[in-house]
Amino acid sequence: MDIIKNTGHQKIEWVSKHMSLLNEIQRMDFSLSGFKVGMSIHLEAKTAYLAITLKKLGAEVFVTGCNPLSTQDDVAEALKDYGVIVHAKRTESEEEYFSFLHNILDYKPDLILDDGADLTILAHTQRKEVLDNLKGVSEETTTGVRRLRNLQEHGILKIPVIAVNNAKMKFMFDNRYGTGQSTWDSIMRNTNLLIAGKNVLIAGYGWCGRGIAMRAHGLGARVMVSEVDPIKAVEALMDGFKVGKIEELAPLADIIVTATGVRDVLNESIIKNLKDGVLLANAGHFNVEIPMEVLERISEQKYEIRKNVTCYKVAGKDLYVIGSGRLVNLAAADGHPVEIMDISFALQTLSLLHLAKNYKKMDNIVYEYPDELDREVARLKLRSLGIEIDTLSDEQREYLGGI
Ligand code: NAI
Repeated sequence: MDIIKNTGHQKIEWVSKHMSLLNEIQRMDFSLSGFKVGMSIHLEAKTAYLAITLKKLGAEVFVTGCNPLSTQDDVAEALKDYGVIVHAKRTESEEEYFSFLHNILDYKPDLILDDGADLTILAHTQRKEVLDNLKGVSEETTTGVRRLRNLQEHGILKIPVIAVNNAKMKFMFDNRYGTGQSTWDSIMRNTNLLIAGKNVLIAGYGWCGRGIAMRAHGLGARVMVSEVDPIKAVEALMDGFKVGKIEELAPLADIIVTATGVRDVLNESIIKNLKDGVLLANAGHFNVEIPMEVLERISEQKYEIRKNVTCYKVAGKDLYVIGSGRLVNLAAADGHPVEIMDISFALQTLSLLHLAKNYKKMDNIVYEYPDELDREVARLKLRSLGIEIDTLSDEQREYLGGI
């Protein structure tokens, strides 16, 4: 018998078996009928299954990527067979990437599901005519929420936004355990090197950085952390890691992972002092944390030494960049584990349903994720695992209400 080859369809089938919350939501009495949803998101199997879920709830769905290197072409192709309109491909140039975002706005979406806020910002700057029909935005990540808050502060935001990233069920699991596992998955599969015994420097000890550090420690690395926030720095110290200035720690590192959401975490003088053979990876949303233009300028030669690993020759040393400095777990691997994205996308789906129902009553500001929906997703997760938890008795409630 001939074996059916693994294609985008099989990739989507695989995740569908492990996304129990989305499957449960598909069975519930929810409807997005009459709503056009424009999605800009890392386009791989899990996001494809989110698009399929929204379609099953009755929405018309239009999808593109949110980063030039994170689209998986076979998945993008397969998604079209589910009645979803797709404008995306991997290795897009920046120009092509933005032209796809324009394509999505051409459909005049009612709702936007954004990851990094490029689509929403384009709607507010170059494509203001689409704001007439736009009713709400659901934003996935830390960087996107920051940019949309800035839009609000400058008085430019014209649409209610829900910060899905700020749901507890998001950042405590997706940013921490998701980025923690998938960043190391990417570094290991692309290099085939051992982590145990290595000096690993994590820049940024936020939700992502904590997860990356925790997993590096578990793999047997000696973990060092650089931070700009004194409280996070103390936390890293109490978690057992070496903390210091990046100028002091970077020359000791065998592997450096940035996870700050800020540009130029490494600079020219730090780069020139790195160890021969160091691996450099970024887990932050944009490819600005490792300054690639500096590496391009100061290196004598560059070549691909393994798939997704570029060797830069700088002053006789070999510096290896994984995934071109773009978020390493998505540009050079499959992104977060399936069950993690199932939680995040359950939050996204409930957020879109909330916007669809309530947008008329909402202001044009960035809203925190509604606590009741956050708890609903937690309850769904426990139920999907067959786990029941306790509830407070009346006496306990009374005790807590007392002085
Ligand atoms: P966060 O705000 O919790 O943490 C960022 C940390 O970096 C903060 O503690 C901040 O003090 C620190 N920081 C800022 N500038 C720094 C510098 N120059 N040096 C050292 N530390 C510095 O944010 P979170 O949730 O950890 O996200 C970080 C980035 O990762 C964002 O760009 C976010 O969008 C992205 N992200 C990536 C994911 C992925 O799959 N790769 C998943 C989720 C978020």
